[in-house]
Amino acid sequence: MTLSELLVSDRIRAAEWTTSEQRLVIEEVLGLVMVDQILSAQESLSEEQIEKLMTIAARSQQGEPVAYILGVAHFDGLRLNITSDVLIPRPDTETLVTVASGSMPRAHGMQVHDVCTGSGAIALAFKSRHPHCEVSASDICHQAIACAWTNAVSLQLDVQFMQTDLFDGLGMFDLVTANPPYVAWGDPEVEATVERYEPKLAVFSAANGLALIERLLTDALNHLWSGGNLCLEHGHRQARDVFLMASDLGWQTIKTHQDLAGRDRVTRMQKP
Ligand SMILES: C[S@@+](CC[C@H](N)C(=O)[O-])C[C@H]1O[C@@H](n2cnc3c(N)ncnc32)[C@H](O)[C@@H]1O
Repeated sequence: MTLSELLVSDRIRAAEWTTSEQRLVIEEVLGLVMVDQILSAQESLSEEQIEKLMTIAARSQQGEPVAYILGVAHFDGLRLNITSDVLIPRPDTETLVTVASGSMPRAHGMQVHDVCTGSGAIALAFKSRHPHCEVSASDICHQAIACAWTNAVSLQLDVQFMQTDLFDGLGMFDLVTANPPYVAWGDPEVEATVERYEPKLAVFSAANGLALIERLLTDALNHLWSGGNLCLEHGHRQARDVFLMASDLGWQTIKTHQDLAGRDRVTRMQKP
């Protein structure tokens, strides 16, 4: 059986992969980048390759995310190792990296910290875009920190990771980035696969999803130099709550930015 025949077989089609999921599966299982996937479409696959692809398709059909099955996801052009202890980084979060990249008063020696780092996606993307910044990151979950370290080593990016609750024990920074858990417990819009497979600690937060955001807005003021920025990802319906909380706490120049789908997703604010 050739790759093109396999891809139209009933068992593979039942997985309902998106184009990018299919590309990732083939890349990881057959070691073929996109152009080779086209060039090799008529070559015969081995029994072992067919079996592997069929097994992945069967797991996908049950709802398991491809990133967890393969242990891999792509974010901002980086290939990241992903375990079941971390959130799968979303393309929308690249908006946060872009907004944060616009908050750099100087290119050299800036100290940047990513809280709630999970797989390290934001911190590693930032370091990759801005090699002259000093980048560190933290997460409360030690398995997430282990995953982030693995990614830093395999990508050869010099980012320091530590396990801690928000800013506990951390110093002062010029820029803080954060994609904290912000989904309300019981939110009916949460996809079944997220509910079933992604870590609860990474997804949900109390007080309508705003509990950790409120702590973060409060604590970040003690860990940014005057004029420093906080760039925060939040739910697309939380921008107003974030704006009100931030203004009450004394943050300045508060501005919300939209994600790839045009929804309010990232708010940047400055410490007076
Ligand atoms: C939405 S995930 C974001 C992961 C990653 N930054 C990304 O964008 O893909 C939130 C992360 O916050 C971490 N977290 C939850 N509560 C925390 C706390 N109190 N302090 C630090 N990290 C926390 C979770 O372990 C999880 O890795």
